[in-house]
Amino acid sequence: MGLWKFSSNSSTSETDDYDPSRLLNIERQGSFDERSLKELSFRLAKAALDDYDVNYSPRSWGHSSPFSSPRSSFEYHPMVADAWEALRESVVSFDGEPVGTIAAVDHASEEVLNYDQVFVRDFVPSALAFLMNGEAEIVKNFLLKTLHLQGWEKKVDRFKLGRGAMPASFKVMHDPSSKRDTLMADFGESAIGRVAPVDSGFWWIILLRAYTKSTGDNSLAESPECQQCMRLILTLCLSDGFDTFPTLLCADGCSMIDRRMGIHGYPIEIQALFFMAMRCALGMLKHDTRGKEIIERMVKRLHALSYHMRSYFWLDFQHLNDIYRYKTEEYSHTAVNKFNVIPESIPNWVFDFMPTSGGYFVGNVSPARMDFRWFCLGNCVAILSSLATEEQATAIMDLIEARWDELVGEMPLKVAYPAIEGHEWRITTGCDSKNTAWSYHNGGSWPVLLWLLTAACIKTGRPQIAMKAIELAETRLSMDSWPEYYDGKLGSHIGKQARKYQTWSIAGYLVAKMMLDDPSHLGMVSLEEYKELNPVLKRSYTCLS
Ligand code: GLC
Repeated sequence: MGLWKFSSNSSTSETDDYDPSRLLNIERQGSFDERSLKELSFRLAKAALDDYDVNYSPRSWGHSSPFSSPRSSFEYHPMVADAWEALRESVVSFDGEPVGTIAAVDHASEEVLNYDQVFVRDFVPSALAFLMNGEAEIVKNFLLKTLHLQGWEKKVDRFKLGRGAMPASFKVMHDPSSKRDTLMADFGESAIGRVAPVDSGFWWIILLRAYTKSTGDNSLAESPECQQCMRLILTLCLSDGFDTFPTLLCADGCSMIDRRMGIHGYPIEIQALFFMAMRCALGMLKHDTRGKEIIERMVKRLHALSYHMRSYFWLDFQHLNDIYRYKTEEYSHTAVNKFNVIPESIPNWVFDFMPTSGGYFVGNVSPARMDFRWFCLGNCVAILSSLATEEQATAIMDLIEARWDELVGEMPLKVAYPAIEGHEWRITTGCDSKNTAWSYHNGGSWPVLLWLLTAACIKTGRPQIAMKAIELAETRLSMDSWPEYYDGKLGSHIGKQARKYQTWSIAGYLVAKMMLDDPSHLGMVSLEEYKELNPVLKRSYTCLS
C-alpha cells in the first residue's frame, strides 16, 4: 500500500501541503518522515477511540454530544472487501488498459440510461480509492484519455463550445470486427437539458494534483499536454465578459445536480470547485510565458473570489439577523445591502435551521436573490480548499453537528436542504417528477458525499463526526446493494429511481474508511490557507461586522 508516499515524495510547493501535525498540536521536529506519520496516524486513531479531549479538537465537546464516544470505525468491516470487489467490477478498459469506472453496475435494472458511461465527477472518488491503494495507473490513463477528449470539436446543434470544455462523461465502444476500441464523449449535447458540465474541468485539475501528490510523479502534470489542458480550462473560466462579480455565472444543472433545481446563477458548488481548481493549478502550472499570464489572472481572481464568497455567501446567526433588518433600495457605493436582498424573501425555515453557533455558505447570491439552501458538496469543498477561513470551517462543522437529524438523519448525506415542495417545486424544477420533495437532488441523501464529509472532518479535527456517519452507512449500504441515493426527510428509504451498485457510493465509502484509517491521505484533496489572501480577509471581516 502506498500509505505514506505523498508526503515524502511530493514536490508540489510546501505551502499548500496539509500538515496533519496540526491536528494533534504536535510540533514539527525536523522532517515529517514516514515514522512520524505512522505514529501520528496511530495517535489520531487512539485519540479518536479514547474519549476526545481538548488536545485533539479545536473546540471541546459538550458531554451531551452524541459524538463524544466514537466507537470502532477503525476496525475491519466486512463491507470493505465487498466494496473493493464491486469497485473492481466497474472498471472500464480501453485497448486492454483500465481508463475509468462506469457510473453503476446495476445488473437488475433494465434501464441503463447513461449509467454505463464513465462520468468525470463520478470517477473522482474511485480514483482516490485507487491512489490510496497504490494503484495509480488507472488514474493516469483516465487523466490522459479525458485530456484528449478536450481537444474534440464540440457542437450543440450549430453552436461550438469553448475549447477548454471537458466532457461530463465518456463511453468506450468496442468494435468486434476491427477489435478496436473508440471513445464517445458527452459534453452536454446528449445530457438532459443540453447543459455542458462546468465541474468536469475543475475535477480534472483537482485529480491531477491528487495524482501528483500521491505518486510523487511530477512528469504528468509537467507534460505539455497537461499544462495546456489546465490553461484551456482556466482560460475559459477567466475570460472577460459582462460580469460584475468574481463568481462564475452558470446555467442550471451544470454540475453534480445535473437537472433543473434552481441553482443557476452562482451556485456554491461551482464557486468552491473553481476556487480549489485555481489553487491546485497554481501549484502545477509552469511559470513560462503562457503559464505566467494565466497565473497572474488567477491570483487576482482568487483574491476577489475569496473576498466575495467569505463576505456575501457566508451566513451565520449574526449575519442572518443583519439581513433580516436590511434596508432595501440603497443606491451608491456605501450600500450595506449590496444585492438589494429583500428581507421578506428569507424563508421561514432558515430561522429554525440556523443554530446560534454555526454557519454555512448559502447556495447562491445574485441580485435580489439569495438561495438560503444548504448544499453539502460546496461547503465541504470550501473547507478542503480553505476558501472557508478556519473559523468558518469550524462553524460549518458545528452546524452539521447541531443539525444532524436534518443533514444526516439515517443515511449520510443530504445533497441539499431543505427540499422544495408544492408550488415552489413546480416553478423551480419545471414539475420534475424525479426531483420531488426529499428525493434525488431535491433533499435526497447521497452516500457518495461521505468521503467529502470525512475529509472535511479530518481537516477540522472532528473525525468523530465522520465516524458516526460511516457507522450509519455501514448499517445499510452494502445490504441495500449500494444505492445511488436515499429518499425521505431522514433518508430512510432507498431512492425512488436510485441505481443499485452505484460506483461512487461504493468508492465514497472506501475513501472515507481509508482516510480515517490513515489521515495523511487528506493531503491529496486538501489545501492549507492561502496566505496571500490574509489582508483581504481582514477587510472582509470588517465589512461583515
Ligand atoms: C446523475 C447525477 C450526476 C452523476 C450521474 C452519474 O445524473 O445527478 O451527478 O454524475 O448521475 O452517476
